[in-house]
Amino acid sequence: MFYCPVNQDTELRLIDPQHTEEVYQTIAANREHLRKWHPWVDLMLSPAAMDRAIANWLQQHASNRGFYAGIWHQGRFCGVINHLIVDWVNRWTAFSYWLDAGHQGKGIMTNSCRTMIKHSFQVWKLNRITIECATENVPSRAIAERLGFKLEGVTRQVEWIHDHYVDHAIYGLLRTDFPNQSAAREQPEPASVEKRALAMRPPPNGG
Ligand SMILES: CC(C)(COP(=O)(O)OP(=O)(O)OC[C@H]1O[C@@H](n2cnc3c(N)ncnc32)[C@H](O)[C@@H]1OP(=O)(O)O)[C@@H](O)C(=O)NCCC(=O)NCCS
Repeated sequence: MFYCPVNQDTELRLIDPQHTEEVYQTIAANREHLRKWHPWVDLMLSPAAMDRAIANWLQQHASNRGFYAGIWHQGRFCGVINHLIVDWVNRWTAFSYWLDAGHQGKGIMTNSCRTMIKHSFQVWKLNRITIECATENVPSRAIAERLGFKLEGVTRQVEWIHDHYVDHAIYGLLRTDFPNQSAAREQPEPASVEKRALAMRPPPNGG
């Protein structure tokens, strides 16, 4: 079972069916907060729907197209960070994420993202990571900017959210960008992080 510490307080675990209830309850308690930028929340109306979503996430993992990691902070489930895609041919991936409203403002997602970045570059040897978010989603843009992603452009009216189109800001981080980012706000991590991360699935060509 995938487990990866982020720091002393926070850890990532692969979401599986045993987590259905706590993931569902967290989404249910955060509907208004999450649906502003994640319209799929309106489809997650029962634990059975959550169960089907988790089955799809595990299918994505089984076919080596990335995974959904749950975030636990001080033992409590509080959010998700996941790959939207892993393009092994061109060696890039894209992240998506969300956090329980009450867990915002502590750096939990920035630090979880940093752990996923390290895994992508150091274990999977990818070359690029994309974060794409609505231009008006200031907290999400701040995560990309805090981690040293470069703003590469804006795609106009690319997503329909409830009743209107939104523009997306496209951020990219290259493997060569990563060592240069400021470590000023980085949390200390247990030495075992990379060792544990190695337990995750390798890319199909062993690269
Ligand atoms: C996007 C989202 C995950 C951002 O949450 P967040 O709490 O702002 O992000 P982090 O966990 O990285 O925390 C950063 C905040 O903690 C503060 N912080 C405290 N300690 C910190 C640390 N060690 N490192 C970094 N930031 C720290 C930062 O200053 C920042 O607060 P500020 O915005 O008041 O300046 C959250 O708002 C959310 O889930 N929104 C709804 C879903 C969504 O929009 N998903 C993204 C779609 S593209």
